Amino acid sequence: MESIALFGGGGFIGSHLVRELLNEEYKLIVVDLSSEKIRDVLPHPKIEYLELDIRNDENDAKFKQIVDDSDLVVDLVAYANPVQYVDKPVDVVELNYHDNMKIVEDCAELDTRLIQFSTCEVYGKMGGRSDGNPVFEEDESDLIMGPIHNQRWIYATAKQLLERMVHAYGIEKGLDWSIIRPFNFVGPEMDYIITSPDEGTPRVFASFMSALMYDHTMYLVNGGTNRRSFTYIDDAVRAIKHVVENEGKQFSGEIINVGSPENEVTVEQFAHLMRDIYQDISTDGSLPEVEEISGEAFYGDGYADCERRVPDISKLERAGWEPEYDLRESLEEAMRYYIEKHEEKQIAK
Ligand code: NAD
Ligand code: UGA
Repeated sequence: MESIALFGGGGFIGSHLVRELLNEEYKLIVVDLSSEKIRDVLPHPKIEYLELDIRNDENDAKFKQIVDDSDLVVDLVAYANPVQYVDKPVDVVELNYHDNMKIVEDCAELDTRLIQFSTCEVYGKMGGRSDGNPVFEEDESDLIMGPIHNQRWIYATAKQLLERMVHAYGIEKGLDWSIIRPFNFVGPEMDYIITSPDEGTPRVFASFMSALMYDHTMYLVNGGTNRRSFTYIDDAVRAIKHVVENEGKQFSGEIINVGSPENEVTVEQFAHLMRDIYQDISTDGSLPEVEEISGEAFYGDGYADCERRVPDISKLERAGWEPEYDLRESLEEAMRYYIEKHEEKQIAK
């Protein structure tokens, strides 16, 4: 039986991937700081769950052993929320680059295949692109970051350097690698739900879902004019599975966009669609206010934004994958999960 190690396998993407891989003949080693999002499948005879911190050097020997024992490593560990890039930029580089590099080095040294999670944020800004093409191609598009004083770009910069090092280890040390660039996945267990705005700033889907359920303001940052291509987590996991299976080694040495290009909307449209769906599927009769707010007021100084990002998905299409969920279906699925969970909680009270 093949063995797969998932670092960060207890997170949003990781937890869905773990559940999917349990349907196959794999032995899974999951390393994370928390097992909260996989609590429904633990304990499991096919999962070894290890609550370990990849920042702690004392665990390095253990990680090396895990990498040595595995046929494939999937590395998902990162600070992945824009508020963290603004609030703790140094920690973002420490974790997303330095600590991840330890795993990359172990994979190269021990000849273990690596799937490294990166981000669509590496494509950066639309402004300054000579051709103005919003469809990002893995091997062609320029990667354009903003000025240093906007520390939001530190996340994309750290991830970009990590990608370049993975690629370089492939050239110099024969590392067998694939890099995944996700485009705004949405679904159950994404980030966390807040009951009031002072409890944190999850990514936009969880932020708006919280506002709808707990009746606080939905904030449109800088007017909500920027655009995103939202991808339903089940579609994303099917795509990632193609990369895991790597038939004919077609994804070895490849960067792969995972996203739903047809699901592109402005954040304002996204907010209004979520409101419409919430009215349709929940029994809650009220809807919160929608207000515009500046990026600085919402996130703090140093915030900047990506105007638009649409994935070219030809590589996955060639493997027979295409997204199945349109935007409304994606949101209905994800929102229904939270509404049902919330209702269960109310009944239990
Ligand atoms: P997530 O925050 O839910 O998952 C990351 C996991 O890493 C968490 O479970 C967290 O506990 C774990 N982790 C963090 N620090 C750790 C440490 N020091 N030691 C061990 N585990 C640690 O995020 P996600 O949305 O599942 O994203 C997974 C990966 O995909 C990240 O690398 C992220 O940058 C990338 N990504 C995600 C999206 C998306 O749409 N969700 C988009 C672009 C990129
Ligand atoms: C995210 C994160 O950087 C990463 O997790 C990841 O790499 C990537 O994008 C992804 O999910 O693909 P971003 O899309 O900017 O970045 O993060 P969100 O918090 O989901 O914000 C999306 C847009 O909604 C931004 O324009 C943001 O300003 C806006 N927003 C967010 C609001 O208008 N209101 C909110 O309450 C939250």
